[in-house]
Amino acid sequence: MTPADPLHGRRVLLIVSGGIAAYKALELIRLLTGRGCAVRCVLTENGAQFVTPLSLQALSGEPVHTTLWSLTDENEMGHIALSRSADLVVVCPASADILAQMAAGLASDLATTLLLATDTPVLAAPAMNVRMWQHPATRANMDTLRARGVHLVGPDEGVMACNEFGPGRLSEPPAILDAIAALLSRAPPQDLLGRHALVTAGPTHEPIDPVRYLANRSSGRQGHAIAAALAARGARVTLVSGPTVLPPPPGVAAVAVETACEMLAACEAAVPADVAVLTAAVADWRAASPSSAKLKKRPGKATLSLDLVLNPDILALLSAPGPSRPRLVVGFAAETDALLENARAKRVAKTCDWIVANDVGIDGGGVMGGLHNQVHLVTEAGIESWPRLDKTEVATRLAARIAAHLAGSPAP
Ligand code: C5P
Repeated sequence: MTPADPLHGRRVLLIVSGGIAAYKALELIRLLTGRGCAVRCVLTENGAQFVTPLSLQALSGEPVHTTLWSLTDENEMGHIALSRSADLVVVCPASADILAQMAAGLASDLATTLLLATDTPVLAAPAMNVRMWQHPATRANMDTLRARGVHLVGPDEGVMACNEFGPGRLSEPPAILDAIAALLSRAPPQDLLGRHALVTAGPTHEPIDPVRYLANRSSGRQGHAIAAALAARGARVTLVSGPTVLPPPPGVAAVAVETACEMLAACEAAVPADVAVLTAAVADWRAASPSSAKLKKRPGKATLSLDLVLNPDILALLSAPGPSRPRLVVGFAAETDALLENARAKRVAKTCDWIVANDVGIDGGGVMGGLHNQVHLVTEAGIESWPRLDKTEVATRLAARIAAHLAGSPAP
């Protein structure tokens, strides 16, 4: 146990689900606490058939959480706080059932509610009968979880408690410990130190009168995640965001704006920048002359016409050649049809370097405002299609690509 140990002083939320291998979770707690890592346990109803809350509590030295309803107690932290109070969530053992619930996004008990509510990285250590592991349903669930960025350790191959042989055995606690240590030590490289990144996010609100505005469904989630991912690699980040409920990520200089014109002014004030990532869903039009008084219904008038004028195209303006053009300008293209064709054309027309194209028609139109994205990176060299990923994972990958691209240019 040394201060340099990635486990020392860290916090793991350990979810113990049902399975004969649950007894190995006890050994894992002993190994973790022995390395100075705080462990807080959640035991599912099925898990409690194999190990008792008392054993988990005795080894972890912390109260064990078993039901969602105990967390409604005022003295207890709520389930959202509990899910975010750790550096890593570990599901060990992860039964076929809890993995299926995670893949489906169910929140039927405390463990699955925490897993759905958390934005902390998750490591699952699967353990189940070999046929359950090989079942197409489990295969599909594992693909889904992997694509969402859930980390996995095991399962191992060997003789199982049911006397069958094959993959499905829970990894041994020292191997799970190593996987936890590897994840906790994975700090992103500081390869954007000395760089300035400008990111736009969210929708814009274009006033019609003092109470009404034109807007769109953008949540700002993708842009906020990109700002956070760039800051995590050491960049100084200016995040110019339209109205959203999201708090600005820590360590990011946030500028709140409402309209496209305000967003343009904030971007112009923020340059020079090494990279600009413009994810904002900027309204294309604004009311030509917003009314200073609330528009009233008029008796006998069934229609109302609104004159719209084009907003400035911030991406095109920032991409135009000139001394303040960021070295790398990345635009986003949300489309519902002819995605790649439009994205390619947009990259050329707006003279930006890359376009991240996403089909906002997928997921039943739930991408805007949702948690996932399936994007294509369109560059001069061609098109790279990424799998459907969590928006934070899209951000991590894009930040890595940006860092690699800028590595070729001197820091200011
Ligand atoms: O033209 P379209 O809206 O499809 O282009 C999308 C890209 O252009 C996004 O990166 C968006 O932030 C940017 N954009 C902008 N200013 C506008 C419209 C879009 O910067 N007025």
